[in-house]
Amino acid sequence: MSTPAPIPTPSVRGPVLVCGGAGYIGSHTVRQFEERGVEVVVLDDLSTGHRAAVRAPLEVVELGNRDRLAEVFARVRPAGVVHFAAKCYVGESVTDPARYYRENVLCTWNLLEAMRATETRCIVFSSTCATYGNPVKLPLTEDHPQVPISPYGKTKLHIEHMLQDYAKAYGFRVAAPRYFNAAGAARDGTLGEHHDPETHLIPLVLQVALGMRKEITIFGEDYPTPDGTCIRDYIHVEDLADAHLRALAALQGGASELFVNLGTGTGFSVRQVIETARKVTGHPIPARIAERRPGDPPELVSGGTRAFDVLGWKPRRTALEDIVRDAWNFLRAHPRGFDSGAT
Ligand code: UFG
Repeated sequence: MSTPAPIPTPSVRGPVLVCGGAGYIGSHTVRQFEERGVEVVVLDDLSTGHRAAVRAPLEVVELGNRDRLAEVFARVRPAGVVHFAAKCYVGESVTDPARYYRENVLCTWNLLEAMRATETRCIVFSSTCATYGNPVKLPLTEDHPQVPISPYGKTKLHIEHMLQDYAKAYGFRVAAPRYFNAAGAARDGTLGEHHDPETHLIPLVLQVALGMRKEITIFGEDYPTPDGTCIRDYIHVEDLADAHLRALAALQGGASELFVNLGTGTGFSVRQVIETARKVTGHPIPARIAERRPGDPPELVSGGTRAFDVLGWKPRRTALEDIVRDAWNFLRAHPRGFDSGAT
C-alpha cells in the first residue's frame, strides 16, 4: 500500500525540551523536530532510554531531582515541553504500584512545577488508551468513560487531571495524546523499539523469526473476537511522532486543552499479527496457546476524528505489513537493541 502525501505540519517554536527523548517514541519525535529545524534538548535519565538513540544535546537528569530540573529550565528556557518519560508496564504496575505513582505522577508534578516556576507553559504529555479501561462501546472515542483498570492507566489519568487543573489555574496549555499500540520503527532503520524486558507482541514475534526465541505465546484464544485472540489498533511510531509536533504547534498557536486519541481506527488480532510477520519474514514463527494475560481487554480500537479535526493529523503508514516490516528491518540491524549495529 502506498503512503499518502503528508498534511503539512505547522511550525513549532523552540527550544523544545523532550523528557524521555532517548526512549522509543521520544527518539522518533526528537528526530522529526530536528528534521524540521526545531532546536531540541533531550532530558532523560537513561534508565530505559538509549544514549545512542539521541543526536540532540542530552541532559542526563532524573525527573525526581528538582534542583537539576530547575537548573535545566533556567538554562534552556524551553518554549515547550514534550513529556514521554514514564514507567509503562501494565503488569509491573499491578505488582509495584508505588513505583508508578512515584515515577509517573510525582515526577510529572516535579516537571509541571519546574514549568510553573518559569515562563514555559506548553506541554504535550504521553497518555494512553489504557485510561479508558474495559471498553463499554467500540470503537473508543475520546468521550468514552475513563475508568482505568491498572495502576499504570490510573497514573496516566491522574496526570491528565493535573494538566487540566494546571491549565485552568495557571494558564498552562496542555495536550495529552492517548496512544493505542505504538509499533514499527523509523523507515531508514536507524531508530526502533528496544525494551528490556520486551513484553510487546510485535517485537517478540520478530525475535522468534530472528531465532532469538523458540516460539511466540498467544495469551488466550477464547476471547469474543472472530479468531478468539485479542484485537489491538497498531499505530506507527512515526505517525505518533508527527502528532506530537502538531500538538505542540497547536498549543503554541493558542489551543489550551487537547485530549485526542492516536490510532488508525483498524484493529488486528494477535493471530493476524503473527500471520503478517510470517509473510514479512518468511519464517514459520511457531506459536503456542497459553492462558489469557490478566488485564487484557478483548478489543481496543480507536474511533472518531478528533485528532484530524484539531491537529490536522491522519496516520499515514497504516498497513500492518509496513509496520511489521519497519520493525523487522530495525531488529535485524540491531538484534540486541542499540548495543548492536550502527545507529
Ligand atoms: N500478546 C501475546 N503474546 C505476547 C505478548 C502480547 O499474545 O507474548 C498479546 C496481548 O495479550 C495483547 C496483544 O498481544 O492482546 C498486544 O499486547 P502488547 O503487550 O503488545 O500491548 P498491550 O495492548 O498490552 O499494551 C499496549 C501498550 C501499553 C498500554 C496498553 C493499553 O503497550 O502501554 O496497550 O491496554 F497501556
